[in-house]
Amino acid sequence: MIYFDNAATTWPKPPGVAEAVLNFVQHIGGSPGRSGHRLAVEANRVVYDTREALATLFGVADPLRIVFTANVTEALNLVLFGYLRPGDHVVTTSMEHNSVMRPLRYLQSLGVELTVVPCSSEGVLDAADVEKAIRPNTVLLAVNHASNAVGTIQPVADIGMIARQHGLLLLVDAAQTAGAYPIDMDQMHIDLLAFTGHKALFGPQGTGGLCLGERVELDRLRPLTRGGTGSQSELEEQPDFLPDKYESGTANGVGIAGLGAGVRFVLEQGIENIRQHEQMLTERLLAGLQDIPGVCVYGTRDARRQTACVSFNIKGIEPSDVALRLDEEYAILCRPGLHCAPAAHRTIGTYPRGTVRFGLSYFNSVEEVDAAIRAVRNIAMKKH
Ligand code: ALA
Repeated sequence: MIYFDNAATTWPKPPGVAEAVLNFVQHIGGSPGRSGHRLAVEANRVVYDTREALATLFGVADPLRIVFTANVTEALNLVLFGYLRPGDHVVTTSMEHNSVMRPLRYLQSLGVELTVVPCSSEGVLDAADVEKAIRPNTVLLAVNHASNAVGTIQPVADIGMIARQHGLLLLVDAAQTAGAYPIDMDQMHIDLLAFTGHKALFGPQGTGGLCLGERVELDRLRPLTRGGTGSQSELEEQPDFLPDKYESGTANGVGIAGLGAGVRFVLEQGIENIRQHEQMLTERLLAGLQDIPGVCVYGTRDARRQTACVSFNIKGIEPSDVALRLDEEYAILCRPGLHCAPAAHRTIGTYPRGTVRFGLSYFNSVEEVDAAIRAVRNIAMKKH
């Protein structure tokens, strides 16, 4: 079997991830941040260790500025619902996933003003277009680091500079890049970094979080949920310190234990090495697919400018049929369709059919890429 659905969720995970999950369930099990007994203290240490590893990976000086959420969608919702008020203006892009687009469209119905900056048909955002969209009431720029539909990497550091110059906050959806591409919040001028745990960070599903930069006014950013935090239990009001302000209810200790192992694996391998391997595979896949008559590859078609996510179509066959044949006849697993990103597919001209998406990971090999190219060639040649 060849697993090419890593842009949705990575598999396999490094061995340490399952071990960490099992160890938490079998030997730790306490409630992080609650109670003072040894198992609760140990659970809390596991959660803190994961925060520390993430802080190292993303260049965050204070690990307590990392808040855990159930996934990147929740982290993005936390910012969009917590920060924006009716009358505020927010700038986003036409390459966003619905995790950004749907909350923003809803907020628009409540009086938040929204500009969606169009990207090129390769999915590329021009930072100058973002600057042109800024108005006196703009408070936030919300952009993805890389498209989940087609892999295009956006000029986040340039947009970060623009945000600084105009006194705005930059929210980055790093679902496709966290763990796969170097991210430094300071160097890239990112104020709010939303990440998922279960993709290139190799954690279990149900993990994710938000890194809060120093420029974020915590008084303005409302929590998405309020409740028990294990701290200031005498109060009926939510604590106002980090991370408790934004972390209510029992943490996903099991998942966070696994996520910690995943992030430590990324740190041990080195993000540059991971990127290099994925870029090499992407280059090979792009070249192989583009060589097949009847195959159309979307995006930049330049491995240096995209993640290891390659979208394509075979002329005359529905993407869902291609994916079904790849699964049934070749045991190649991928994701066809719109990838929860209709705006992105409109931008690259593949709406409403979508594309066939191969999402590669650090654990994929040259042999797998070559086998997938052969399979696509066979399907393209014998259409029915
Ligand atoms: N958003 C994930 C994907 O791109 C699930 O498939």
